[in-house]
Formats: sequence, structure tokens, C-alpha cells
Amino acid sequence: MGRKQQIAYIKALRERLERDKLHYEPSPPQEQFHKSDRQIRLMIGGNQTGKTLCTTREFAWIVTETHPYMPNIKTTNKVAWLVAVNKSDVTNILWENYLKKFIPERYIKRIVNNGSVLEKIELTNGWTIMAKSYGQKREGLQGAPCDLILVDEMPDVEEWEEIYQRVQATKGQIIISFTPLKVNKKIKSYMTGENSKVETFKLTKWDNPVMDNDELDKEIEGLPENVVKIRYLGEWASYAGKLFTAFNTEDNVVDAFAIPDYWRRCVTIDPATSSDTGVNWIAENPDNGLWFVYREALLKGLAPSDLLAEILKRTGNEKIAFWYVDQQAAYLVAEAIKLGIALIGVKKANMKEIFVNNLNQAFRSRQLFIMRNCKETADQLAEYANDPKTEEFKPIKHDDHLVDDLLYFWQGRPYFQEKAASRSVVQKYIDSILKNRKDRCHDATLGYI
Ligand SMILES: Nc1ncnc2c1ncn2[C@@H]1O[C@H](COP(=O)(O)OP(=O)(O)OP(=O)(O)O)[C@@H](O)[C@H]1O
Ligand SMILES: [Mg+2]
Repeated sequence: MGRKQQIAYIKALRERLERDKLHYEPSPPQEQFHKSDRQIRLMIGGNQTGKTLCTTREFAWIVTETHPYMPNIKTTNKVAWLVAVNKSDVTNILWENYLKKFIPERYIKRIVNNGSVLEKIELTNGWTIMAKSYGQKREGLQGAPCDLILVDEMPDVEEWEEIYQRVQATKGQIIISFTPLKVNKKIKSYMTGENSKVETFKLTKWDNPVMDNDELDKEIEGLPENVVKIRYLGEWASYAGKLFTAFNTEDNVVDAFAIPDYWRRCVTIDPATSSDTGVNWIAENPDNGLWFVYREALLKGLAPSDLLAEILKRTGNEKIAFWYVDQQAAYLVAEAIKLGIALIGVKKANMKEIFVNNLNQAFRSRQLFIMRNCKETADQLAEYANDPKTEEFKPIKHDDHLVDDLLYFWQGRPYFQEKAASRSVVQKYIDSILKNRKDRCHDATLGYI
């Protein structure tokens, strides 16, 4: 190899290494996305399917002018936008996690930050990358025409119009990806309807090369259909009808039995000031970690101290391991402390959909049972439904305090502690050596390691 060749080889190798900082081997849908020459390309997909990896790779190829399939992209002012819900997502996800690794350092001329968030990046080849966010609404998305816009979340119609305006004059490109968590009819029809400017691609979890397909098949077994459709397959689906699809009387409701004294018990409270406060008592079979709702109460019109007194009265001399409550009920937490009860506040805000899915999964996998005497709890679970007027996740609000109880409890429940198996002589010897090691450190779950 001559000297010139050697230099070229090393240069190519360096470039390759820089690019390979992020391992990316496009799956077929990702490959098609890169090869498409449409003005607007949408990568719709489930969660963690490789949407952002694909769109940021595309973005970096365009702004570094090294696109493998489009060597001659026409530009006007070489302005590119990165759009996400807020600028910290643009900074931490789009830039730090992906683009920084896809754009070799020698292309970077100047980075302008505003505090900890990115404002813009100037490249040595004349491109300027601007950070934009939906948080700023219309004004935030106005500005000079662009040659390229990357959008990392589903926009609403107003935002989409603003984004589209920015490339109309330049005939610039828009690359957009999202998981269809809500059904925005206008956006849906625009993206999927007859439109020669748009091409839509789809990524499922099974397309992601780092995921194990057999594991995924197992993972979805107990999940509600709409969750699989939206989060795994990236399909436009809707939350319609009953939400606890896995809950049914045959599988999840059992005859009452006396709970042995040594079972671990929890109480969970969903306080309400004007309507009923829901309370559930739940016990765990220590042999297998299955939980049983064994008592319920709907209490109305009681002051916090009287409410707690009533709950204690109904608890009798049972020993309660953990008490759960809606985190928002600070007044009840304060009142309980006076009685020596430490209520654990569980925060539900923005997490309700996940809580509901997890509880549904508990019924599907038969880890949680309702005793037949807890009739109200079973009824509320069976009736818990989504607002039929919307396709988004929005449970109808009524008589659901016992359901809320269970949502808090299931999210905050203590881990199942398997009984320690009897140790062999060899294991005891190993344990004693480990325990006496000078450099041992304590781990909350493993003990001394
Ligand atoms: N073609 C691929 N080659 C290598 N890894 C991939 C590929 N596609 C996806 N992955 C892996 O999947 C992970 C998730 O990718 P990415 O962040 O792009 O997903 P996403 O769909 O944008 O996720 P989210 O729904 O959280 O926004 C990556 O960190 C990467 O490990
Ligand atoms: Mg993403």
C-alpha cells in the first residue's frame, strides 16, 4: 500500500469508527425509509423500536452531505430544525444520545447553548441546526424557511401546519417519527391518506434487531390488545370500552377464606372529600406471593381523624405491613402520623395508563384475587371503562375509588420474599468467606457481597 493509499485508508477508517460510535444496522423498514425520496417521511412505530435512531441517522447524513442514497440533495439556506416536545428533549435525546454520535466532530464549527439547553449548532459546511419545541407553540415554530426538519413526537394540527409552512417555499424535507399514542384524526388522514408527498413506514418491536423475538412473543401474551397494537406494533388504535379486559369473575374472584395471622397484610386508601373514600385490605400468601383482597369499605362524610379511626376499627388487631394512599392526600398522611401510621403516598399523575395496564396484567397472570365478599371492588373493576367520545386513554370518572385503591396498592406493593432455601455445606462455606472479606460492601438486596 502506497503512502497516499495508507492516508486515505486511515482517514476512511477514522470516519467509519466515528460513525460507528452508535451501532446501527438498519432493519428493512429503516432501510426503506433511508431510500425513499419523498418530501415527507413518517416512521410510525411502537415504543423502543428504533424510530429516533433511524430519523437522526437520516438527519446526520443530510446535514453532513454524506447521504448514501441521495448524493445530490438540493438546498437553499441550509437551515435544519430539530423539533421535540421541549428543548431539553432536543438537547438530551436528539443531540446528546444520537446526533452527536452520528455527526463527526470535525463538522462542528460552533455550538450555542442557552443555559443547559441547546439553541443551535453551526457546521463547517454551512448548515445550521436549530433546536425547536412544541412547548413554545406557534411562535416557537415560526422562523426562516428550512431545508430539513426532524420531528420526534406527534404534532397536533396547528403545530403540523406551522412545521409544514417552513418547508413549503424551499421544498425541504420533513422526517418525522412517533408512536401513535393518541388518534389525531386529521394528522392520521394526512399521514396515511392519498398524498404523493408523504410516505409512511412502520416499525414494530419485532423489527428491532436488539430485541429477542421469543421474549417479545412471551411479553405480549397477557397484554390487552390495544396496548400491543399501539406500543408494540405502532398501529393507530383506540382505547374504547372496558379497560380491565383481563378481569373476570371466574379467574379473579374467589370464595372468602380466613387469612392466616402470619400472612403479610396491606391497607390501601383512596380518600375522597365529597364522595366515598375507598378502602381495601389485601393479604399475601407467603408461599407463592399471590395477593387477596379480603375486605373492602366505602366510607362517606367522615373527617380525616374519624376516617382513620373507622379504618383502624375495621382492621381490628390485624398487623398491617404497609399502608398506601393517593400521594395528593397530604392532609391524611399528616393525620395518620399522629396515630403512628406511616401512609405511603403513591403518585399517579401522568402514570394512570401504565398503572391500569399493570393492574390488568396482575389479573391476567392471576397474581391478584378479589374475595367474593368484596363485591363493590369486583363491580367497579368490571365496569371501569374509557370515555367512548375519545379514542385516547381517558377513563370515565365515576365510582372508582376502590379501583384507584388497587392501582396505588399494585404499584407500591412490597416485593415477594421467597423463603430462604436451606443452604448446602459448600454454600455455607462460600457465604462465610464472602462475609469475612475485608472489602465487602453491603447491597440492599444481596446482603454482603
Ligand atoms: N437498526 C438498529 N440497529 C441497532 N440497534 C437498533 C436498531 N434499531 C433499534 N435499535 C435499538 O433500539 C434502541 C431504541 O431505539 P430508538 O431510541 O431509536 O427507539 P424509539 O422507537 O425512538 O424509542 P422511543 O419510543 O423510546 O422514542 C436503540 O438504543 C438501539 O439499541
Ligand atoms: Mg424515540
